[in-house]
Amino acid sequence: MSKAFYITTAIDYVNGQPHLGHAYEKIITDVIARSRRSLGQKVFFLTGLDEHGQKVQQAAQAEGKTPQAYCDGLANDWQAFTKKLELTNNDFVRTTEPRHKNFVQTILAKLNAEGHFYTKTYEGWYSTKEETFLTDKDRRTDGTFDPSYGEVVKLQETNYWFKLGEHQQWLIDYIEANPTFIQPDYRRNEVLGFLKNNTLEDLCISRPAARLNWGIPLPFDKDYVTYVWFDALVNYISVPASLGDSTVTRCNSSKIELWPADIHFIGKDILKFHAVFWPIMLKAMGLPLPKQLLVHGWWQKDGAKISKSTGNIVDPIAVINEWGLDAFRFYVVRELDIGPDGNWTDAGFKARYQAELANGLGNLVNRSLSMLKRYRNGIVPGRSDELAPEANKAIAETRAHFEANELQATLLSIWSLVTRANQYVDQTAPFKLAKDPAQAKRLDEVLYNLAETCRVLAVLLWPFIPQTATKIYAQLGLQGEPGTFSAANWGGLQVGHQIGEPAPLFPRKDV
Ligand code: MSP
Repeated sequence: MSKAFYITTAIDYVNGQPHLGHAYEKIITDVIARSRRSLGQKVFFLTGLDEHGQKVQQAAQAEGKTPQAYCDGLANDWQAFTKKLELTNNDFVRTTEPRHKNFVQTILAKLNAEGHFYTKTYEGWYSTKEETFLTDKDRRTDGTFDPSYGEVVKLQETNYWFKLGEHQQWLIDYIEANPTFIQPDYRRNEVLGFLKNNTLEDLCISRPAARLNWGIPLPFDKDYVTYVWFDALVNYISVPASLGDSTVTRCNSSKIELWPADIHFIGKDILKFHAVFWPIMLKAMGLPLPKQLLVHGWWQKDGAKISKSTGNIVDPIAVINEWGLDAFRFYVVRELDIGPDGNWTDAGFKARYQAELANGLGNLVNRSLSMLKRYRNGIVPGRSDELAPEANKAIAETRAHFEANELQATLLSIWSLVTRANQYVDQTAPFKLAKDPAQAKRLDEVLYNLAETCRVLAVLLWPFIPQTATKIYAQLGLQGEPGTFSAANWGGLQVGHQIGEPAPLFPRKDV
């Protein structure tokens, strides 16, 4: 058995409906998963929901529901959302599932038995909203706490603490020795800067059940539940354990090989949890570390924070219903590279739809196949290799970018082929060639180059816009999905092959 390429998303808090930020993270992960599958790798893609903790308990209370009933209701919506985005996730974890809860308890019991925890009475500041203890170091220069912490209260409480601090130097050494562990580099530098300039405090891993009962009980003290992050991070290994991955279960035989993850794809706001807490938790458990934390930026809308309360949101479902799934998938990948922050504007979305999808790709495919239909009854003429160098360049670049998870760069490479092929139509003017019987051979060549370029494009584009890629294949009269990268090789269309019916891929809209 070989190890699968294992990629995960953050698991979302189930305290509302999915928005653009959630959709972006899941789509990028899906494109990476599909690109690896297309290259022939075995892939396991995990996503899911983070259902415990104060935020969820409060949201449930506000609706007069039990936390479990509240989560069950919303989990349906979130699972439907993965289908709406056509994610190819292999599993969907909910942290309220017994498979996850049991595994968290097993780990807690083991770590406790091995002396990684101790109890301590803490007196100080606590942010209920963020479920986190604060110190005077967290105050802003004017002495107040950032409003993102919500109400900050004085608290005196006895809790269980995880000995995080003693691993500080080990973690610094690890990150320095493994330059690709945290990507992009500026996020890696941020973590190293934090670790080198601060003393790492131990981590409080319990909350008294009297104050917060919506959590996984500590197996060794029923008066406490587990801190939500100590519960949530474990999803990345509880699922492999439930499927029989022996690296995690430590059994002799393995039913699946997943751990260590190849990529945890996460937003910049949760970097500390993944780059500091998680590696130290894994070290304490004696497990290998994930190969990479790949960190994305945040979307704004119209230059302002996305916020339910101010109504500044992008509803992915509404956009998909109006413009189609692929238009949405394409835009988020094309507009925002993995790393920096981005800004959604409706005008920007429409402009890309019109220029790159409708006038670029859509126009190329439609006129290429319509001319083949009109001038040659849809029958592919003999092979001609005029556009092969450009196609081969796009194929090679796409492969290299896929292997480096450079998705925006892939689209740029692919679009240089789209642009080149559209220019080729304008330069060779097949509609003029068709009028001159002496040019029949030249017309054959042009039509072959265009149809074959469309075929190659379908294969290259499949991870990004699978519905469109599959439609291009169908219009070319080819069976199935263009999900295998090796099929992109130039020359796949055979002479005499009958194509299907051309139809517009991206209807023009009056905007
Ligand atoms: N439940 C935790 C994650 C636990 S992972 C073990 C959490 N949930 S969240 O719902 O608040 O966020 C889920 C993911 O969505 C995070 O990676 C976060 O960065 C991402 N985003 C939330 N809003 C976002 C934007 N506006 N833009 C881009 N991504 C954003 O944190």
